[in-house]
Amino acid sequence: MKKGRILSGMRPTGAMHLGHLFGALENWVKLQNEYETFYMVADWHAMTTQYDDTSRIKDSIRDMVADWIACGIDPEKSCVFKQSEVAAHCELFLVFSMITPLGWLERCPTYKEMKNEIKNHDLNTFGFLGYPVLQAADILIYKAGFVPVGEDQLPHLEITREIARRFNHFYGKLFPEPKAILAEAPKLAGTDGRKMSKSYGNAITLADRGKILEKKIKRLVTDPARIHPSDKGHPEVCSVFQYWKAAAKEKATEIKMQCEKAKIGCVECKKALSEKMAEILDPIQEKREKISGADIDEILKKGGEKAKTVAEKTMAEVREAVKI
Ligand code: TRP
Ligand code: SF4
Repeated sequence: MKKGRILSGMRPTGAMHLGHLFGALENWVKLQNEYETFYMVADWHAMTTQYDDTSRIKDSIRDMVADWIACGIDPEKSCVFKQSEVAAHCELFLVFSMITPLGWLERCPTYKEMKNEIKNHDLNTFGFLGYPVLQAADILIYKAGFVPVGEDQLPHLEITREIARRFNHFYGKLFPEPKAILAEAPKLAGTDGRKMSKSYGNAITLADRGKILEKKIKRLVTDPARIHPSDKGHPEVCSVFQYWKAAAKEKATEIKMQCEKAKIGCVECKKALSEKMAEILDPIQEKREKISGADIDEILKKGGEKAKTVAEKTMAEVREAVKI
């Protein structure tokens, strides 16, 4: 027996990096055995920030989904699909937009933050303000009870629950109030010490190998107070240690002890980490090379059909509930 239904999604940002792997994908892979899982490419959501240049979205979708599959998302177990292929998301988005108070959206912390942070696009748009409403439609059109997301997405999930509650209050109970499944997401720093992000150009990608992988790991920022190998280290402030925690929990405990007692030097520690990462990435890269664009199209087509069936059924119920 499955424990319930899950929906999660990612905006297509192209090839995935280690932050995606340890922060989300590993968890998605695990969950496919316990839940009925729907994993969605949020391509309409990509457009909310990239509406002035949509030329890269299509390629990004293929790269991203190929990486999902290489990491172990199994299209036999999970419904892998594209948001834009299931029109009911947009229909439900419209209905929800009728009942969502503007204040909920204007107050949303991610809205305020992104509007301040992203300077290269004008985000003063209706669609960007409505981002969480579309996300609510993504989740509720499948009546998903659980949504594995990172902490940054909790405000959106809260709005989803509020919209579900409000809909149920006006038109009768139709939707569940979905819960977040928070993974213990490691905070991986990129090669420049900032948060790992494709847009910062500091990411270690799933395709990195050999000398490039080694070089990037060498550049990771370590405990600044540790100048000589004989200095005792403070692993909790060292980004290399975060990688150990993400990639090999038991080994991390050992590294912590050795580092604190100055029994291991940073050079050696990084070398061991490079080896560990290569061990994790090798099979992913091997699998990735065998996946063609045509395979991805086929997976998305099949997934889209299944998603459509479920979504259209909900939408019929919505029409009946709102009497239109
Ligand atoms: N907003 C999510 C992100 O940026 C992506 C997303 C879109 C999503 N729709 C969703 C996540 C539905 C979970 C459920 O990461
Ligand atoms: Fe970081 Fe490893 Fe150096 Fe300790 S030994 S400071 S964990 S790189």
